[in-house]
Amino acid sequence: MSNKLWGGRFTESTDEFVQTFTASVSFDQRMAQQDIDCSRAHASMLGSVGVLDEKDVSDILKGLDQISAEIKEGRFEWSVALEDVHMNIEARLTDLIGDAGKRLHTGRSRNDQVATDIRLYVRDAIALISAQARRLQLGMLELAERHAEVIMPGFTHLQTAQPVTFGHHVMAWYEMISRDVDRLQDCAKRLNVMPLGSAALAGTPYPIDRAHTCASLGFDSISANSLDAVSDRDFAIEFCATGAIVMTHLSRMSEELVLWSSAQFNFIELPDRFCTGSSIMPQKKNPDVPELVRGKTGRVNGHLVSLLTLMKSQPLAYNKDNQEDKEPLFDTVDTLHDCLCAFADMVPAIQVNAQFMYQAALKGFATATDLADYLVGRGLPFREAHEVVGNAVRYGVEQGRDLSELSLDELKKFNSSIEEDVFQVLTLEGSVASRNHIGGTAPAQVRAAVQTARAQLSS
Ligand code: ARG
Repeated sequence: MSNKLWGGRFTESTDEFVQTFTASVSFDQRMAQQDIDCSRAHASMLGSVGVLDEKDVSDILKGLDQISAEIKEGRFEWSVALEDVHMNIEARLTDLIGDAGKRLHTGRSRNDQVATDIRLYVRDAIALISAQARRLQLGMLELAERHAEVIMPGFTHLQTAQPVTFGHHVMAWYEMISRDVDRLQDCAKRLNVMPLGSAALAGTPYPIDRAHTCASLGFDSISANSLDAVSDRDFAIEFCATGAIVMTHLSRMSEELVLWSSAQFNFIELPDRFCTGSSIMPQKKNPDVPELVRGKTGRVNGHLVSLLTLMKSQPLAYNKDNQEDKEPLFDTVDTLHDCLCAFADMVPAIQVNAQFMYQAALKGFATATDLADYLVGRGLPFREAHEVVGNAVRYGVEQGRDLSELSLDELKKFNSSIEEDVFQVLTLEGSVASRNHIGGTAPAQVRAAVQTARAQLSS
């Protein structure tokens, strides 16, 4: 038996292997609810323009309701022979309501149908992912505010650079995620254009009312070119590109959490519920959640490359290649959602070892730049001040002492203008408090940044 939905011109049935090879139902059934919504809108529109009569439309809508319930309850029987989600649903509809089911496909094609379904799916996914991102943002604000005064070493090249507040560091993470949320919203805006009505590639001779379907599906606008609308998956690429950036950011945070929770850093403790033990080393508490998130960055980056490569060189309009868009896309959705969810749970629960952070900041001459700035205040050109402090640091390294541990006499040997007040500058508290401008690390600025962010989040 050839496929009853398109078998008219075929004289032999599909090769069994080819049938499985070309089928997408095992993965595109995920878009079933979007496909049903798309069919509902299409059927109602066909009724409104008189292509279908009222009875057909009401039978179709009822049938689709039943199918939707069967799928939600796990009672729907998916068939590989019916290739994909679209044909499975249509065939079931015809089983249920007879010929009216066969009329649903009037004036449309699976090409505009699938292009519409995926857009609806990604739009829904972006809403769910953004909700997790928002939870994470709120958690970060809570953590940053709680530790606005905690001092830690700030690093460049992973070498001690200058003291910063932990709250400031967390707010750096917050900025990354905020831009990611913006990017997701941008992507949602650009994809919210309705392909339905483009039919296979050229449009349809039926008197369709695209404004009707556009409004019922909640799209912002109607696609302006049918060839483009059925074929391009740039919105999926854009979503995965955004996803890759989100994961890149999460991987950077993960790396820091892994480092900081090691015995050598000991800056933080992750609650046990986010860690696992070792089957052989009884002392181990492994930061599995951040490690796994860091690792999952690879698959999302891979999915982006898959989609770019999938789209590359495809001639207009639809090509079967595009069926391969779904698995990378769906896995990106799942990975982003779950990683953001894990982070949203974990970040506000991070326990901070403020004492260890402080001790670490005392090592590594974190206030050397402050001494140079002090000398600039005494009239030295910055380059000369840099040189003077470099000499003092070398002396400190030889002595095994920090700048703040040198006596005034010792410091004066490097520059006679140094006075007793230098010790205020050399303290960690003085250093962070002095960077008191928008975007600076001073505790007051961290609190202000948290307030601004809260107001933006709730606006
Ligand atoms: N399963 C197909 C896909 O994902 C649906 C569109 C099929 N269109 C076609 N002309 N064969 O792309």
